[in-house]
Amino acid sequence: MQIYLVGGAVRDKYLGLPIKDRDWVVVGAQPQALLSLGYQPVGKDFPVFLHPETHEEYALARTEKKTGAGYTGFTCEYSPDISLEADLQRRDLTINAMAESSTGTLIDPFGGQQDLEKKLLKHVSPAFVEDPLRVLRVARLLARYAHLGFQIAPETFTLMKKLCANGELSTVSKERVWQELQRALTETQPWHFFETLYHCNAWPSLLPALDPADYQIFQQPQTLHFFQKACEQFTDSVQRLSAFFLTAVNYPVTSHANLAAQQKTKRLLNQLKAPRIYVEFSSFVAGYHTLYFDLLNWPAEHILAAFKQLHAFHQPQKLDQFIQVCGVVDGLYGSEIFTQMLLACRNVKSEHYLQRGFTGILLGQRIEEAQCAAIQQLLDG
Ligand code: CTP
Repeated sequence: MQIYLVGGAVRDKYLGLPIKDRDWVVVGAQPQALLSLGYQPVGKDFPVFLHPETHEEYALARTEKKTGAGYTGFTCEYSPDISLEADLQRRDLTINAMAESSTGTLIDPFGGQQDLEKKLLKHVSPAFVEDPLRVLRVARLLARYAHLGFQIAPETFTLMKKLCANGELSTVSKERVWQELQRALTETQPWHFFETLYHCNAWPSLLPALDPADYQIFQQPQTLHFFQKACEQFTDSVQRLSAFFLTAVNYPVTSHANLAAQQKTKRLLNQLKAPRIYVEFSSFVAGYHTLYFDLLNWPAEHILAAFKQLHAFHQPQKLDQFIQVCGVVDGLYGSEIFTQMLLACRNVKSEHYLQRGFTGILLGQRIEEAQCAAIQQLLDG
């Protein structure tokens, strides 16, 4: 049997980037050969094994045949006769379809190295369209490599548009979409992921609740600029996504908490099956960003309610994160007054009221009154 390093590890090595995961392809072997060497089988659909010591993935060379709709609608065939080239040919992009032998020889039948030099994300073969997940993968890889000058090859972009137009993209499970989106948020320039999906008309399939009026983020450079700035200022993916929805979604501006905006963002994030931490923070930012730029006109009890909704007493960093996101969109006003208010509220001690005989609901009311008075003092000051 021969073993080759393949996929992202070879790509990143030739890009001079650190290698995260190493995937291997095994040619000329039966599953039994790997099992007898102590490799552990994983996955029920593919002949993939984990190395007994490194736990890296070793897959038997395989080809894939389209048998139905969607990204799971294919069967895979493997045998010791399947060549390395045949395995590489089923892959998405030329830069992902290179292999390296144990002696360091590059095997590059589809011009991956040349495309690395040309900085092109280009499909290997027309079979690209057999897997709609690739629309998301290519958009994500652009988010990762655009800062190095990479672009999507026009002919690949045409295939991506085709996958969006023929409904294939809708067959990708919400969980996989979220997985790609969340990974895209950690890349260097996440906005390319969102923008690429707009230009190939993927959003109606991926997130039907995002209405066309919200696409203005992609049509007006100054709006997209806020999201870009947010991604440059913070790397936290929860904050980055909240900045996307704050700038993308067409909310009416109000001088108080905007519950409609909060609900709409919640609906969008739930449609994406985003984890709770994303849903709560993004919808809070959407509903309460007026608190940031209109603070002095807010009643003290509403400010206190906002702090509570954000769980700012237990997690004060959330208030900082909220201020940072709003600051990108509305200009930096500074966080000092918010920090002072939070501190003043936290300085209201329950023991003080307990000693005076307050318990239960009355105790809660007294504490809230004192916290509102402390906030008011700062508003007046
Ligand atoms: N692959 C593919 N089509 C997919 C998924 C994966 O062709 N839908 C191929 C690509 O050759 C890819 C390899 O399988 O390089 C490994 O996939 P994966 O580990 O998911 O991605 P990487 O390319 O290694 O990228 P990353 O650095 O994001 O993990």
